[in-house]
Amino acid sequence: MEVGVCKQEMLQKKNAVLVDGVILNGPIMDSKAGEKFVEEACKIIMEEVVQKADDVTEKVCEWQAPETLKQILDLEMRDTGECHQKLLQLCQDVIRYSVKTSHPRFFNQLYAGIDYYSLVARFITEALNPSVYTYEVSPVFLLVEEAVIKKMIEFIGWEEGDGIFNPGGSVSNMYAMNLARYKFCPEIKEKGLSGLPRLVMFTSEECHYSMKKAASFLGIGTENVYFIRTDERGKMIPEELEKQVQRARKEGSAPFLVCATAGTTVLGAFDPLDKIADICEKHGLWLHVDASWGGSALISRKHCRLLRGIHRADSVAWNPHKMLLAGIQCCALLVKDNSGLLKKCYSAEAAYLFQQDKFYDVSYDTGDKSIQCSRRPDAFKFWLMWKALGTTGLEERVNRALALARYLVEEIKKREGFQLLLEPEFANVCFWYIPPSLREMEDGPEFWQKLHQNGPTGALNMFSGSVKLICLPALNLLLSYEKPQGLSEGS
Ligand SMILES: Cc1ncc(COP(=O)(O)O)c(C=O)c1O
Repeated sequence: MEVGVCKQEMLQKKNAVLVDGVILNGPIMDSKAGEKFVEEACKIIMEEVVQKADDVTEKVCEWQAPETLKQILDLEMRDTGECHQKLLQLCQDVIRYSVKTSHPRFFNQLYAGIDYYSLVARFITEALNPSVYTYEVSPVFLLVEEAVIKKMIEFIGWEEGDGIFNPGGSVSNMYAMNLARYKFCPEIKEKGLSGLPRLVMFTSEECHYSMKKAASFLGIGTENVYFIRTDERGKMIPEELEKQVQRARKEGSAPFLVCATAGTTVLGAFDPLDKIADICEKHGLWLHVDASWGGSALISRKHCRLLRGIHRADSVAWNPHKMLLAGIQCCALLVKDNSGLLKKCYSAEAAYLFQQDKFYDVSYDTGDKSIQCSRRPDAFKFWLMWKALGTTGLEERVNRALALARYLVEEIKKREGFQLLLEPEFANVCFWYIPPSLREMEDGPEFWQKLHQNGPTGALNMFSGSVKLICLPALNLLLSYEKPQGLSEGS
């Protein structure tokens, strides 16, 4: 309505520039009304999300089945736009029926509460809407990314290196796999896969599923991923790796990469990096360490020994959005090479964007190292949080998470009906909840079948699977054991 009135007024003015019925010098939208909408929406965000983030009296989620939720929410997009009042109501509804991932009782594996600094960083970047491809478009965010990558490299223990922030650890793993293959046969960039020998890579059977995805996506093929046996703690057995590399060679295939995991997804196991690095050096294989989960232990002087040998890796994936609480997504691929390998592998040298004759140092146009064109400034939320807490604050976060995990382990041992799977070395605490009806039963196939049957549905899966504990939720998790809500004791 308001814009329509403005259009009439503009048409009456002599200076209206009219092209194909469009007034080019008229208002695109009513900015005053837009600002008011932002202000009111921010108030809702503040009251309904931020202020309630750590309020245990609030619900984690007002759960509705999909069909019901479809009816509650007005999902239809119509020819005519809705008024602000309706839109604000929609915002309220979206918040109301969404999961409050910062809630202290939200026990999902990825989350650990709210970090206010990274949240503000996200607000800023959402408002500025930058894209980190060239320095002229994102001067601050490119420098921030450079500073954060430099610091992360220091913690890995490399003297120099390179890196790029990506949308996820899975993507970082994919980047690393492709980079290792490029290093193995640089001509692949132009010639493609035809004419290549059968390339084979190795990772542990406890690796993250992104390995399989990346192998299929990149045309390596999942059959060419050799999954190496793990020990009883879920760590890759180096002797098995050696055997499989030799087997691959005997088969006439070309081994090129080993992906070790530092902090496996389920058990939280750390592969023996030094021994794996020895094998990689012996056979000339690229060593990638998927430290998406466990990488944050590098910040802790007490727990960094878990990643002993990581400095020998050629590349590392590390997600500050996990244990350190930087908001999703905040994931870096870090590379030891400092000769421009990342850029050589990924660049397309688009002349319209990455001109070489700009008025500033074009080495800051780092976007050509990425497979993306538009890219979010994910490093910024980690940077602001790091600035706010300092390295010691981040270190405390890691130490606290591991201390909470230890505390939970001791509580599990004391409580009837809980069975610890193994002593954790990280923040993954894996245990079984045995319902009273099964507690007297003898251990055997029938017991396990029944336990699985009785197992979890939906939100209760923490009672029979593995629970990854990070910072605050661990304590609240303990409290919730007192009264396992919704768990039918007799079942
Ligand atoms: C060991 C490991 N690697 C990779 C990933 C994937 O990370 P993202 O969810 O950021 O893609 C995960 C996620 O849990 C993980 O645990």
